[in-house]
Amino acid sequence: MNITLNNGVAMPAIGLGVFQTSPKDTVDAVAAALQTGYRHIDTAAAYANEREVGEGIRRSGIDRSDIFIETKVWISDYGYDATLHAFEKSAAKLGVDQLDLFILHQPLPTAFEKTIDAYLGLEQLLADGRVQAIGVSNFMPEHLATLRERTSIVPAVNQIEVHPYFTQPAVRQANADLGILTQAWSPIGGITSYRGDGARSTFTDPVILAIAALHGKSAAQVMLRWQLQLGHSVIPKSVRAERIAENFDVFDFELTPEQMGALDALDTGVRGGPEPDSITLAAFGREIPEA
Ligand SMILES: NC(=O)c1ccc[n+]([C@@H]2O[C@H](COP(=O)([O-])OP(=O)(O)OC[C@H]3O[C@@H](n4cnc5c(N)ncnc54)[C@H](OP(=O)(O)O)[C@@H]3O)[C@@H](O)[C@H]2O)c1
Repeated sequence: MNITLNNGVAMPAIGLGVFQTSPKDTVDAVAAALQTGYRHIDTAAAYANEREVGEGIRRSGIDRSDIFIETKVWISDYGYDATLHAFEKSAAKLGVDQLDLFILHQPLPTAFEKTIDAYLGLEQLLADGRVQAIGVSNFMPEHLATLRERTSIVPAVNQIEVHPYFTQPAVRQANADLGILTQAWSPIGGITSYRGDGARSTFTDPVILAIAALHGKSAAQVMLRWQLQLGHSVIPKSVRAERIAENFDVFDFELTPEQMGALDALDTGVRGGPEPDSITLAAFGREIPEA
């Protein structure tokens, strides 16, 4: 299933995420996903596994032109020239000439001029045909508003934390109002369990499990189906071939409006990831190596 972005480019709705996937596991996970039928991979310069994503793609034997590659510029590479160079680094590590989607990983609220300049770099890459689409991640409505005042091209996507425990209705509405696709990170709520802080996990939620039982599906499949029916793109992460396959097997059932509502109602309003306003170069800056 494809989603058409606001510039007409088709993007597979489900991609494989590879955050926290070790370089060694990345090659196998990407190859397994492509074997299963995925045609979209979401990585980032900051994940330090772009090279292995490229290797997994090549190992699959599937034509590069049939695969949608998405990656992200880290904040340490913000600024116009630095972002153009960040493209060169990412493309070289991935072993490709063109990226399908290149996005800013985070806003830098305390250095927003750098964020704007980075986005202007993305606009240039788009104009030069080096990327098929550009976008952002973790942008709150106020960041989107300033970006729109200062730049020309509406982002194709805003990749944000969305799962049943954190549904971000205001950001999703701002995205929709601007014609930006919401792409859900931690789409099955992985962040509610892997942080290990004792928070309850979406995978063992009784409401989600009850809905899953009615459909003969897993909690992860129900959450992914909920996201797709909301019109979101999803990028679930796994390093296990059987879960990679499970997360792709979500097209043979449909949630009812009541079930959609029951999932919406699980929102706690509590973010799993960092507060966007806490992202500073001092706290989160780190050098992204050359290719
Ligand atoms: N833009 C951003 O700031 C940002 C932030 C975070 C993530 N992301 C992107 O979003 C992707 C996904 O987010 P995420 O990794 O945080 O969370 P997620 O995809 O919601 O969950 C991943 C976690 O769930 C487990 N899992 C996967 N499939 C499962 C299944 N069917 N049943 C039970 N457990 C399952 C995985 O373990 P195993 O690997 O052991 O299966 C992993 O611990 C990332 O890989 C990355 O591409 C972006």
